[in-house]
Amino acid sequence: MSELRQHPVDLRTDIPHPARVYDYVLGGKDNFAADRVLAEQGLRINPQIRTTARENRAFMTRVVRHLAAEVGIRQFLDIGTGLPTAPNVHQVAQASAPDARVVYVDNDPIVLSHARALLASSPEGRTDYIDADVRDVGRILSSPRLRSTLDLDQPVALLLIALLHLIPDDDRPDRILAELLEALPSGSYLALTHLTADFSPDKMNRSAALLRQNGVDMNLRPYAQVDGFFAGLEPVEPGVVAAPRWRPDSDDPTAADADASIYAGLGRKP
Ligand SMILES: C[S@@+](CC[C@H](N)C(=O)[O-])C[C@H]1O[C@@H](n2cnc3c(N)ncnc32)[C@H](O)[C@@H]1O
Repeated sequence: MSELRQHPVDLRTDIPHPARVYDYVLGGKDNFAADRVLAEQGLRINPQIRTTARENRAFMTRVVRHLAAEVGIRQFLDIGTGLPTAPNVHQVAQASAPDARVVYVDNDPIVLSHARALLASSPEGRTDYIDADVRDVGRILSSPRLRSTLDLDQPVALLLIALLHLIPDDDRPDRILAELLEALPSGSYLALTHLTADFSPDKMNRSAALLRQNGVDMNLRPYAQVDGFFAGLEPVEPGVVAAPRWRPDSDDPTAADADASIYAGLGRKP
């Protein structure tokens, strides 16, 4: 962690930031020239990136709706929130459960400023925002904002949507998850998505290499490693699958596995 504190994410707009590159790919406006240049280079190598981003957001919508409407979860901790892109987690959750409470966490200051302005809760529910790095679990869990918004004696859905592939093995993503889940009671859930080269190795490895050359630490992982992030949890059907196959709204998934190239899964803490 000492290295993190020495090199916090700063407000540089001349170098690409993952949140803003992703915003551009999703068709958003909260990005700068450096983000757009990198995104366009990536799209030339791998035009499916737009499908990946869309399917990732669609999974987020389905899983949050499932948790709020069918499981009865009322508290969400969304780490690696990203720039606001409707619908956001609290909008999906509060559409089913107006009293749902959501804490957003991100380490990008531009995400922070937009989130404070835009992520406004329903009157019955609550939202708050923590500026923290997922690797600093202690900072997240001890945050007064988290403690005043979420009751950690009641189940919480922990969301890491398109985040863990930005965390290298050396930073022990498995341990980060274990520490976060340790703080949550039985009946809590983990939902995550994770980019992979399993379905389309050439294009995905080339676009990941481009991101790494531009300072974005991209770690594509195979099925076994992504599935391993759910160790100790009860798998929820259909397990870890390509995102379009996770409880699709219609019988036909909206994209092929190779076009999505992102795994999605949900697990329950026993
Ligand atoms: C690809 S975006 C995903 C946004 C959103 N969760 C979604 O799936 O639509 C990844 C987000 O994680 C944030 N992020 C990257 N590294 C992080 C870290 N170490 N700690 C916290 N947030 C991080 C980025 O700033 C960005 O907003």
